[in-house]
Amino acid sequence: MIQSQILGTGAYAPKKILTNQDLAQMVDTTDAWICERTGIKERRIAAEGEVTSDMAVVAARHALAMAGTKASDLDMIIAGTISADMPLPSCAVVIQAKLGAARAFAFDVSAACAGSLYGLAIADQFIRTGRAWRVLVIGAELLSRLVDWSDRNTCVLFGDAAGAMVVGPANDPRRGLLSTHLHSDGRAAGILSIPGGGSQYPPSEEMLAKKMHKIAMNGREIYKFAVRVLPEAILEALDTNGLKVSDIDHIVPHQANARIVERVLEKLGMPLEKCWLNLDRYGNTSSASLPISLDEANRAGRLEPGDLIAMMAIGAGMTWGSALMRW
Ligand code: ACO
Repeated sequence: MIQSQILGTGAYAPKKILTNQDLAQMVDTTDAWICERTGIKERRIAAEGEVTSDMAVVAARHALAMAGTKASDLDMIIAGTISADMPLPSCAVVIQAKLGAARAFAFDVSAACAGSLYGLAIADQFIRTGRAWRVLVIGAELLSRLVDWSDRNTCVLFGDAAGAMVVGPANDPRRGLLSTHLHSDGRAAGILSIPGGGSQYPPSEEMLAKKMHKIAMNGREIYKFAVRVLPEAILEALDTNGLKVSDIDHIVPHQANARIVERVLEKLGMPLEKCWLNLDRYGNTSSASLPISLDEANRAGRLEPGDLIAMMAIGAGMTWGSALMRW
């Protein structure tokens, strides 16, 4: 069976920085509260006129350059996003056009913060079965336009960014993706949602007045859910491959919140040093956070060939999962 490998990574974050101190001028909060509860110090905000596909294209170009792949060679583009440029068509086809990836077919995956992990799992299946040779997997979110800037419960958490991975068949059988594991539980849909703007509550004056087009969240329930299912997802991946926690060299997580990551690693009995943390600089960038973390660790020279990397992500739905790979 062909195994797939990540051939290139890329990331992009807008220049504008919004610090916790800036937020304290906007809502009733403090730098100390945000740092202590989330680990976030600042986040990036997209420029006026900048859209999700613009960010995705920059991250994609970096990943393509690293992989030595031309956009015209791509077979498939998967964009994990819940903040596409517009409801229709998909963000992925806009990205396709901007990149000039004429041969590819392109589609979005709606799995919120787990979107890029879902995308990676789909890419892996197409590559393993020989149906695709070069796949671009993107996580891109422009959440600053979906946040209620008067709601201190949510506005302190999120940031804008994009990350990308080019995936193709592994040329060394000892390297590549060992397995991916996806889960969802729609019974928990209500703990994190944007209730308005779809078929249930189409755009209307009432919907806008009630701010139903903005992110609504039950933070405590998300925290409890995440620290329960993420260790299980990592153990499931290890079990499938006959490996143990101590075999993992690096954890590359979706970074929603430092406390979630710390608690998950504590439950697994893993040191925090095995994890590349950057949410102090970016906040929660949803589907972008996993590929950005991978790209930063990669470009910092942290990842050695053959290293065992465990990825984990969780998002609205709830959706979650893990992937295990030999770098
Ligand atoms: N600044 C100051 N006070 C605040 C703020 C803020 N930004 N936000 C909430 N508070 C207040 C609340 O109003 C509450 O006040 P009260 O006691 O007077 O009612 C108090 O702080 C405690 O609120 P809680 O919500 O109970 O605080 P908690 O300790 O649970 O921390 C947090 C909140 C950080 C959101 C936590 O629940 C958490 O980490 N949840 C995970 C949620 C998450 O990461 N979501 C991201 C999206 S999901 C994803 O990516 C998987």
